[in-house]
Amino acid sequence: MGHELQYLLETKRFVWLVAVVFALFMMFQYFEFPNGHVVSSLFSAREGQIVMNTTRFHASNTSNISSLHSHTSHALSPISPTVLPPNSPSLPPPTAVNTINNPTIHSSPNTSVKEFKDLQKNPVHSDKSSTNEGVSPGNVVTISEMHDMLVHNRASSFSMKPRWSLSVDQELQDAKFQIENAHFNENDPELHPPLFVNVSQFKRSYELMEKILKVYIYKEGSKPIFHQPQAVLKGIYASEGWFMKHMKASPHFVTKNPKQAHLFYLPFSSRMLEEKVYVPDSHTHKNIIQYLKNYLDLIVGKYNFWNRTGGSDHFFVACHDWTPSITKKHMDTCIRAMCNSDVKNEGFKIGKDVALPETLVSSSKNPLREFGGKPASQRTTLAFFAGRMHGPVRPILLKHWENKDPEMKIFGKLPKSKHNRNYIEHMKSSKYCICAKGYEVNSPRVVEAILYDCVPIIISDNFVPPFFEVLNWESFAVFVKEKDIPDLKNILVSIPETRYLVMQERVKKVQQHFFWHVNPVKYDIFHMILHSVWYNRVFRVNL
Ligand SMILES: *[C@@H]1O[C@H](CO)[C@@H](O)[C@H](O)[C@H]1NC(C)=O
Ligand SMILES: *[C@@H]1O[C@H](CO)[C@@H](O)[C@H](O)[C@H]1NC(C)=O
Ligand SMILES: *[C@@H]1O[C@H](CO)[C@@H](O)[C@H](O)[C@H]1NC(C)=O
Ligand SMILES: *[C@@H]1O[C@H](CO)[C@@H](O)[C@H](O)[C@H]1NC(C)=O
Ligand SMILES: *[C@@H]1O[C@H](CO)[C@@H](O)[C@H](O)[C@H]1NC(C)=O
Repeated sequence: MGHELQYLLETKRFVWLVAVVFALFMMFQYFEFPNGHVVSSLFSAREGQIVMNTTRFHASNTSNISSLHSHTSHALSPISPTVLPPNSPSLPPPTAVNTINNPTIHSSPNTSVKEFKDLQKNPVHSDKSSTNEGVSPGNVVTISEMHDMLVHNRASSFSMKPRWSLSVDQELQDAKFQIENAHFNENDPELHPPLFVNVSQFKRSYELMEKILKVYIYKEGSKPIFHQPQAVLKGIYASEGWFMKHMKASPHFVTKNPKQAHLFYLPFSSRMLEEKVYVPDSHTHKNIIQYLKNYLDLIVGKYNFWNRTGGSDHFFVACHDWTPSITKKHMDTCIRAMCNSDVKNEGFKIGKDVALPETLVSSSKNPLREFGGKPASQRTTLAFFAGRMHGPVRPILLKHWENKDPEMKIFGKLPKSKHNRNYIEHMKSSKYCICAKGYEVNSPRVVEAILYDCVPIIISDNFVPPFFEVLNWESFAVFVKEKDIPDLKNILVSIPETRYLVMQERVKKVQQHFFWHVNPVKYDIFHMILHSVWYNRVFRVNL
């Protein structure tokens, strides 16, 4: 009796909760769609304001491309101050097309509604002088909000129901059930639990990936844009090349039978698209977008795999800054592993897309040339940064901290040194390495800091860090909002030494997940990338 009553009460509470959630959802839909215009114009007004001050333009109007030119000509991609790889692109600027009509804000209903309200309370004027030195005021998506978004998106945004079913659908469904009911096996010495959001789920998911995952690689597409990983094994976009190389050489995961595939890989290089399809100085991505569309039309017309799931079991891995904008129109339904993982301005979808680590590789023979650094006790510099003045944030960092404090080694571009020894030595002997965004949120510094045992300080609002689904970033890195740059030293010295020591130990333990090996090994970066794609596929399964 008592049990029944409790059950009844709980059911009632549950129904009530569902109703509330539904109401919130409808409210969100209302703001997002029918009145979406209002919301997006408010957001674009705000973005416009940020942009004016930052030389990155979010133009609302393409009709005068030439007037944008003067802005774009500085707009090189963020390049690490470390060795400029020989094949380093003379990067043409991102173009106006980049952001036109895309003031997309991907946030949970809560955040959107909240932001909408904030905006109503504080209407944004496009008066540029009112912003804080080009840094966006407020409304930064924190890591914990990103986790909320992940939970929310998992519960609400499933992939398309397959038009007809195959046994792989059931396999994914079973995998999801097993992951959700995972129990931690204490004796896996290779995994350090505090590094993970949930190590039991990660471990189970990884085991299942190794056991069942099959990937079909399309044969269509010509070299060097498709199927030629060796073209991009060096430089700041090397992640896409190394991934492609390893994926193609993984008989364990690759299947020739598409009916057995849980995932379909579109093996193109975003770097090669830039080199071969982009017309220098054209300031438009139109022909790249068209090139990818032609490719997609080809495979959609030739096979029915894309049609079966609306693309939700397809994925690509691409590191160029332009990837979000060149794939937004026609490839938005597939799983996009991208270095440019900006949750607010670039349409990165948490729970579907994958934050790809940007890694600077200087040797195509030996991707992991060196790692490690001084022990914690010998790290004499509190904080280190060096780099070119790309984007709006770095000049502010320098303005506040260059030559201001002997403990803060904050520089512009360092003078050239052989193999960039100077830069690397700083990373190896500093407690904290500042990873300040360039023009885009991502920077190879995040992985560099980790490789040199330096605790990363990430100053890049709305950046979704790599392997966000599984790694508990706040256990080994510190996220500082752009607006808090003036307080940077206070923030760092207020971290207790014991906490620093714990974080630094964890940085060393998380390293293995960021190593490129000539031959992939368990839990390395190749497997982590593939795992995040798999994990997002599994959690969005829809039967
Ligand atoms: C776009 O800009 C041009 C000139 O730069 C202007 O004449 C036109 O009205 C603008 N269009 C819109 C829709 O803002
Ligand atoms: C575009 O901008 C350029 C440079 O600012 C200016 O000379 C030109 O008149 C503008 N064209 C239009 C159509 O507004
Ligand atoms: C939304 O807000 C409620 C209450 O403020 C909170 O309990 C819930 O976790 C939030 N959900 C998301 C997805 O942010
Ligand atoms: C991890 O996930 C498992 C399975 O869903 C769950 O039982 C466990 O409580 C979770 N652990 C943490 C720390 O959230
Ligand atoms: C997939 O769907 C599209 C449009 O819905 C159609 O044009 C195309 O022919 C379909 N492909 C196959 C192989 O059925």
